[in-house]
Amino acid sequence: MNEANQVPHEKTLDSSAALLAEGYAFISNRRKEFGSDIFETRLLGKPAICMGGAEAAELFYDTDRFHRQGAIPKRIQKSLFGEKGVQTLDGQEHSHRKLLFMNLMTPDRLKQLNEITEKEWLAAAERWAGKDSVVLFDEARDVLCRAAYEWAGVPLEEGEVHERGQEYVDMVDAFGAIGLRHRRGRRARARAEERIVEIIEGIRAGRIDVPENTAAHAMAWHRGLDGQFLDAKVAAVELINILRPIVAICWYVVFGALALHEHPECAEILRNGRSGNINVLEPGNDYGTQQKGQEGTWSQYTEWFVQEVRRVYPFTPLLGAEVSRDFVWNGCEFKEGTMVLLDVYGTNHDPGLWDDAETFRPERFRGWEGGPFDLIPQGGGDHYSGHRCAGEWLTVDVMKTSLDFLVNRVSYTVPDQDLTVKLSRMPAMPESKFVISGTKQM
Ligand code: HEM
Repeated sequence: MNEANQVPHEKTLDSSAALLAEGYAFISNRRKEFGSDIFETRLLGKPAICMGGAEAAELFYDTDRFHRQGAIPKRIQKSLFGEKGVQTLDGQEHSHRKLLFMNLMTPDRLKQLNEITEKEWLAAAERWAGKDSVVLFDEARDVLCRAAYEWAGVPLEEGEVHERGQEYVDMVDAFGAIGLRHRRGRRARARAEERIVEIIEGIRAGRIDVPENTAAHAMAWHRGLDGQFLDAKVAAVELINILRPIVAICWYVVFGALALHEHPECAEILRNGRSGNINVLEPGNDYGTQQKGQEGTWSQYTEWFVQEVRRVYPFTPLLGAEVSRDFVWNGCEFKEGTMVLLDVYGTNHDPGLWDDAETFRPERFRGWEGGPFDLIPQGGGDHYSGHRCAGEWLTVDVMKTSLDFLVNRVSYTVPDQDLTVKLSRMPAMPESKFVISGTKQM
């Protein structure tokens, strides 16, 4: 076990171009080819170790062996994440900052966001009346932008919704890109930070009044371990770390809509389960044994459906960290300072972890006893002590509300369009961004 240099080494001068070309499949293609969950390669001109699977994920989240400071490329900080935010911190500083986020994720606060989200979807459906068709991705972006601002306590004029929402989409859209798409993401971040810094300063100066239990209030008045308020720019980066990813749930809303379209039998369960009329289910399907009027199974099925959407559809491809000190693991020498990439997409599709991994089957989550390192679309490990996504519970809730709206509050048809999802495009999205026609409120 402890013998070093047992792992496959990709014979390449540099694989960065292959990573961009193969996208989500880059690491798993090589894991399959080498028959190994870990291999060495070169990326961005430096040695790198790529790994996937639950055991590798557990290792990746060992904070004694890996750190994040300096591990995130500048180009990602300048577009997607911002500088000096929680993603770049380690140790006590990280836990202290992370609590700022986790304290916002109480059941009451999440319920409030869901109510706002539902209200915004219903308002959107009213706006759709009289239109032949709408692009669901753009609609979800605007619904979630309105909801994110209201929930976070950040002022937003009606006329700004579209532009602000698109800025957050541009930041996310930049992560797997070079050239124009990357530059667009950088510009979007620069503009957003400038505006949010003004808001933080406005709150601190008493010019802008925000309710106490909001993200805007929390970021403006947070004190670091040194007892000082955050630099206004860092507070803005953290407030954007709330607003941007809530808007980004529009990716998952579209993937959820695509799953409903591709698996009408699942849509049927979500529709009939909601009204209590669940006898249409296949014999042997045990949500069918639930008595009419009991919602338990319907909400359970919704949860499985959402988990399966997050497992199957491609959003986060991989995560990076840097080795803190030399060690050997499963025959691989990890040298201090080496970049290590965790295969997020490949772990969610790992045949060793998931039966029939490529099949969309929400029922797989019935009685699922997964650990913190197998379903990792939003990172693995512990939410408080590690870097696992602070907004994971929020994302699941907002997806449930949004999909319930699509199934039970509005009817629509899906006209012919190009719904191909290319794994080479990071972030991925159906080519047409999911057009729906003839919407009617139900
Ligand atoms: C749209 C769906 C989302 C996806 C796919 C996603 C994915 C992720 C991933 C992969 C990580 C990194 C985990 C790691 O570095 O180990 C992360 C971190 C984070 N996410 Fe999310 N996320 C989503 C939504 C959200 C939402 C809605 C929020 C907040 C409202 C949020 C806030 C954060 C924060 C603050 C971090 C940094 C955590 C840390 O470094 O400790 N995310 N997310």
